[in-house]
Amino acid sequence: MDRLTGRVAVVTGGAGGLGRAMGETFARRGMRVVLADVQADPLDATVAELRADGLAVDGVVTDVTSYESVEALRDRTLELHGAVHLVCNNAGIGAGAEGRLWEHDLMDWKWALGVNLMGVVHGINAFVPAMLEGGDEGHVVNTSSGNGGISPLPGSPQYAVTKAAVVTLTECLHGQLQEAGASIGASVLFPGPHMLRTGLFESWRSRPDRFAKDAPDRPPTPRSTISKPRWQQPGSPSSTPRSRRWPSRWSTPSAPARSGSIRRTNAPTQQLRARTESILARTNPAYLRALPG
Ligand SMILES: NC(=O)c1ccc[n+]([C@@H]2O[C@H](COP(=O)([O-])OP(=O)(O)OC[C@H]3O[C@@H](n4cnc5c(N)ncnc54)[C@H](O)[C@@H]3O)[C@@H](O)[C@H]2O)c1
Repeated sequence: MDRLTGRVAVVTGGAGGLGRAMGETFARRGMRVVLADVQADPLDATVAELRADGLAVDGVVTDVTSYESVEALRDRTLELHGAVHLVCNNAGIGAGAEGRLWEHDLMDWKWALGVNLMGVVHGINAFVPAMLEGGDEGHVVNTSSGNGGISPLPGSPQYAVTKAAVVTLTECLHGQLQEAGASIGASVLFPGPHMLRTGLFESWRSRPDRFAKDAPDRPPTPRSTISKPRWQQPGSPSSTPRSRRWPSRWSTPSAPARSGSIRRTNAPTQQLRARTESILARTNPAYLRALPG
């Protein structure tokens, strides 16, 4: 999709982080942008800031784990703009690193699969038929991660499994759109080249009650992102997030968004090669890395 001016983009997970950066980039290139997020207050604040900058941005509170909610997002987008050309299924949550895989809370799995995988499925089912019906060229961008999309960090299995699934899902979507002769493309976004300084590492903020843990008292490890950290538990001395010390190599979310990453990936080539070679050689996965940072 070459022409962006005047066209309509929808970005889920648009209240902050990478989604906001993509939405802002699209709007600066002349697109009309609809940002969707489950967190209403941050979404309102983001939309207000971008509008104050003269950008054509609207916000729609959406829970991508609910198909009805994503259908309502599509309907509102069509009501506002009459068309949709670019859909970024970007909403995502960080999975925890809470001990061993075989001890993980099943609700963590359900939440991770609900947002990171079914959220993308819902976006495809709700928007692709409307895009095909619109008859214009268009594009679907699904956010994956090097973690799972290329090879997994074994300490975050839920996240890695969902991000691997997003790659396969998008490959199938691409193949089927091609087969159908549609003028709609499909891409996987691998944000990077480094980890990004976003809200992903405090995903507990967007965890709905219906995905609450079965065993909320299980002590989170320091790297947990799926639970409230201990200092945020009821009775803790402070409910204000401490300022985070980001590893210096981590990028800001605007970096990949501005680099035109709709068309490019920053997949870690070394990791990809090591995994492929291991599969071809039928060896154990010696390429697995620990969780960085
Ligand atoms: N930060 C990184 O280093 C990194 C690396 C690779 C991939 N990613 C992926 O990038 C995408 C964006 O994440 P980010 O890093 O900007 O984190 P972020 O937490 O800043 O943004 C994610 C947004 O998704 C929203 N969200 C969560 N659950 C939702 C739901 N049910 N419905 C609608 N919105 C929901 C959150 O409220 C949040 O605003 C995610 O898919 C993430 O997995 C991030």
